[in-house]
Amino acid sequence: MDRISKYNLAEVAQREFKEQFNAKGNAVVIAPGRINFIGEHTDYNLGFAMPIGINRWICTVAKKRTDKKINIYSSNFNETISTTLSDLESLDLWEKYTLGCIQVIKDEFNIQNGADILIKGNIPIGFGFSSSAALEVSLIGALLHIYDFKIDFYLILKLSNRVENNYLQIQSGVLDQYASIFSKKSQPLIIDFYNLNHSYCNMNIEGVSWVIINSMVKRELVESKYNERVDECKLGLKKLNQTLSKSISMNEITVELLESIKSDKTLYNRLYHVASENKRVLLMKGCFEKGDLIGAGNLLNNSHESLSKYYEVSCNEIEAIIKLSNKQEGFYGGRIMGGGFGGCTINLVDSSKRDLFIKNVTSDFLSLYNHKIKIETIDFSDGFEVLH
Ligand code: GLA
Repeated sequence: MDRISKYNLAEVAQREFKEQFNAKGNAVVIAPGRINFIGEHTDYNLGFAMPIGINRWICTVAKKRTDKKINIYSSNFNETISTTLSDLESLDLWEKYTLGCIQVIKDEFNIQNGADILIKGNIPIGFGFSSSAALEVSLIGALLHIYDFKIDFYLILKLSNRVENNYLQIQSGVLDQYASIFSKKSQPLIIDFYNLNHSYCNMNIEGVSWVIINSMVKRELVESKYNERVDECKLGLKKLNQTLSKSISMNEITVELLESIKSDKTLYNRLYHVASENKRVLLMKGCFEKGDLIGAGNLLNNSHESLSKYYEVSCNEIEAIIKLSNKQEGFYGGRIMGGGFGGCTINLVDSSKRDLFIKNVTSDFLSLYNHKIKIETIDFSDGFEVLH
């Protein structure tokens, strides 16, 4: 299932829908997970990030019903939720995501009909590939399609963010959903979260591989200190503005301005990460365009140090992986990726040394911890697509 192609996944999902609901689905929508080259915890701080879609997707097949029933079948969990449009409450995490998507569509458009829905994917859950964002994007896209509303990318972005904020109580930004919607497989996105727009970056980097190491430490955002970081940044900005008697916004913060709140170490550290990370995204764009591998590797390493020391979103297993990676030949740089507190590292490695790198890090890690890390072999992918 890991390596299945996009269209195969969609085909299997359509077949399973027919078996499950005895009818053909009339919307087939697919959305990818993502990796993020650089720009972590910058989205809700209105900075920059550089993600790309990957060849792991969530596919939603759906059909509008004539009554108000809602049936959602998860092919991965082999579980069905059966409810109605007027009862979309849930305590279970997976149900919250799916019913949350239906709720936001209901709130926005006052829909009166139910739906039969099948969801199938191959994105590992809870490891930093943003399976939940891909789920929201594909499900909301499919719902817009079956109820005959315009498929507006920015509306999907807004509604999926509402699911996270209102139903999951995660104050996340839109990095993951943005990447899942707008990615192009040949060029990383450069997202500007302040202006909510993007451009694409030419990638002239050759002879290297992006190795994704899954620490197998699973941490859903809901259970992590993610919201605490969001609040700390808000508080830091407030304090900075009070101290400077100004009213600057998050994207105007520079490392120099931060000097004035240095006495509050935690707030200073959080904002220091954000300001320096934004700079790194723009520098990384230059490195990608020029094919500067050393420069790109250094930026990854600096980003990791910042996420670990200033933003404090790493964990012991990830620190061990980074330390072991640094000892290997052909390693240009690497960092923790995504929300943090577990999940994956993204590493830039000389292709000729890739296999040895993987072998050494895997065995050295196993001698330190009692579990195996997993190497995720990914390709890049285009974003959201309505297949049918
Ligand atoms: C998670 C969140 C994103 C973003 C990243 C950190 O993936 O869902 O919105 O904040 O963490 O960059």
